[in-house]
Amino acid sequence: MNRLQRMLLALALAAPLAALATQPDKVTRGKYLVTTSGCNDCHTPWVMGPKGPEPDMSRMLSGHPESMQLPPAPQPSGPWIVSAAATNTAWSGPWGVSFTANLTPDAETGLGKWTQANFTQTIRTGRHMGRGRAILPPMPIPMYKHFTDADLEAIFTYLQSIPPVKNRVPEPIGSAAKVASK
Ligand code: HEC
Repeated sequence: MNRLQRMLLALALAAPLAALATQPDKVTRGKYLVTTSGCNDCHTPWVMGPKGPEPDMSRMLSGHPESMQLPPAPQPSGPWIVSAAATNTAWSGPWGVSFTANLTPDAETGLGKWTQANFTQTIRTGRHMGRGRAILPPMPIPMYKHFTDADLEAIFTYLQSIPPVKNRVPEPIGSAAKVASK
């Protein structure tokens, strides 16, 4: 093989090899994206720490705690129209009351039985598993639907690698229920 042939062969091999992200690469990239895209801000329950409220990482990404008893949400008339519970996991607004989902791989209460396609289609379409009820605010679907397929694969691969937490998040209530049944 002459020099030119070697160069062409190297070029031909480089592109497909770069596209083949390995499983550990995906977990690392997914962790980075989940951390910097704020998923813990809403999906990890917040507790009061020494310096103020902070996500309780012992319950990382397990969603709104099922044990938390909440009184009816305030009904403001605006311009302050959104309220959040102390955990940052329950939200009330013009859409009703929504509770952040359990994103851990628990099979019964989290994403344990989800496939990559279920996850990608949920984020792309803004509907549960791509065909169920509409995903309510404040889940940033309008922004996250712009993630690339590779990013959504990395995020889902990472989410499937974290410790499972058994926590059954309640269904949305109020006007959310109407949106939900559409
Ligand atoms: C500003 C708060 C907020 C942020 C940030 C946020 N979420 Fe959410 N997310 C929610 C809420 C609230 C729901 C529940 C909405 C509902 O019940 O319709 C939700 C629902 C979801 C669902 C749907 C679960 C299902 O069963 O259909 C997935 C998947 C999800 N979030 C993943 C993520 C990921 C991944 C990130 C970070 C990249 C993230 N979320 C960041 C608030 C948030």
